[in-house]
Order: sequence, then structure tokens, then C-alpha cells
Amino acid sequence: MSGCEEYTLITDPESLFKINHPELPLSYYTGVLASGAVGQLVGQLAKITGCYVVGSVGSDEKVNLLKTKFGFDDAFNYKKEEDLNAALKRCFPQGIDIYFENVGGAMLAAVLPNMRMNGRIAVCGMISQYNLEQPNGAPNLFCLVAKRIRMEGFMVLDYFGTYNKFEEEIAGYLKEGKISVVEDVAEGIENVPTALIGLFSGHNIGKQLVTIA
Ligand SMILES: NC(=O)c1ccc[n+]([C@@H]2O[C@H](COP(=O)([O-])OP(=O)(O)OC[C@H]3O[C@@H](n4cnc5c(N)ncnc54)[C@H](OP(=O)(O)O)[C@@H]3O)[C@@H](O)[C@H]2O)c1
Repeated sequence: MSGCEEYTLITDPESLFKINHPELPLSYYTGVLASGAVGQLVGQLAKITGCYVVGSVGSDEKVNLLKTKFGFDDAFNYKKEEDLNAALKRCFPQGIDIYFENVGGAMLAAVLPNMRMNGRIAVCGMISQYNLEQPNGAPNLFCLVAKRIRMEGFMVLDYFGTYNKFEEEIAGYLKEGKISVVEDVAEGIENVPTALIGLFSGHNIGKQLVTIA
């Protein structure tokens, strides 16, 4: 949570975590052991808990990755689908019980009418909205009422108190091979801006990291 800078003064010791699994790659502590890249981890955890999991991603390469390496049941390339509503109907003929929201905008608008009665939407982020001067309105919100949907946002920092439990659980899955990790590593501090901007066009495949020699 520190800045991208040469020196950082951390005054709150509560914001520091001990690395309890130095046998795992250190980079995992910036990624999978700190819950990112979010979508790949959420999908794999959902599979472990027995869900039917479908991912929406922005390239055929990522579709392939979800279905092979990450074990998703299905995936589609939202940039190629002419009609998101039709894509969701194809993947979820009986509707969606749980939507993990990372995107917002057109995807959320298409998901809402495809939710099942009493469905749940965990709102983690809305990356499609962050750089818009005029954020999109949110159509179809009445579906929350008609379908009795529960939609709730959260921030990771609210759960720092249970971090050790999370670390142990994920470290266990990693060691058992139940979770796969893909990292996208750029080299050199001069590449930080390009790597950061790349997140907003889907340039990264997996957790974006920048190594500094
Ligand atoms: N609530 C929290 O505490 C918390 C903490 C961390 C992150 N988050 C949120 O979690 C989400 C994922 O973050 P991350 O760090 O894991 O990033 P990430 O998935 O590694 O990278 C962002 C991905 O978002 C997709 N994307 C970019 N612009 C998009 C658009 N306009 N429409 C649809 N997809 C788009 C791109 O994939 P494609 O190629 O598939 O388009 C890109 O690879 C973000 O919304 C972020 O704000 C929330």
C-alpha cells in the first residue's frame, strides 16, 4: 500500500504483514497472497467451493487461459461478443446466482436482467468506469427489487484483521497445486507507467508486476 517511490516511511506497524511462507515466490506476496490479480483468484476459489464458473475477459488468449490453466467451466471474450445479454444467456441458460463485479458499465447492465431470484453481487471494482469523465449510468437497477438481489461493495483493507487466515488458506492451495498463478513481469522502474496504463486496456496477462534490479 506504499507509493511507487525510492523511500517510504511507514509509521503504522499495523499495516505491515510478516511473510510466513518464504518458501513460496516472494512475488506472490504482491499478488495471489494479497488477492490479485483479482479475477483469476476469485474464479479459482469459486471452483474450489463447487461453483459453475464463467469468466469474461478481453482476448481469446485470456479465454483459453481461464479454461485451461485456471479450470473455469467456460469463458467468453467480451470484446468480440456483439450482444453481452446473449452471451450471458448462452453461458447461464438458467440465470446467474453470484456475480463478482470487477468491471461495471455495460457488463453490469447486461448481468442484472440475467440474475436469478435472490442472487448476490459482490462489488469489488468497476474498472470500466475509472477513467471516464462521465461515468455511465447504471440501467436495469430495478432488477435488484424485482429479483430480490443483494448487491454489496467491499474494500480489502476492511479485512486486514483476518489476513493470516487468508494467507494460510491460499498458501495451502498453492502447495497442493489447487491454485495456479500467472504473472506478467515488466522490468525496470522506467516501465512502471506503461505497466500501470496497460491495466486499463487489458495489456497484462495475469498479475502485473514490475521488477527493479
Ligand atoms: N475492493 C477492493 O478492495 C479491491 C482491491 C483490488 C482491486 N480491486 C478491483 O478489482 C478489479 C481488478 O483489479 P486487478 O488489480 O486484479 O487488475 P487486473 O485484473 O490485473 O487488471 C485489470 C484488467 O481489467 C480489465 N479491464 C480493463 N479495462 C476494462 C474495461 N473498460 N472493461 C472491462 N475490463 C477491463 C483488463 O482485462 P481484459 O483484457 O479482460 O479487458 C485488465 O487486464 C478492479 O476493478 C480493481 O479496482 C478492488
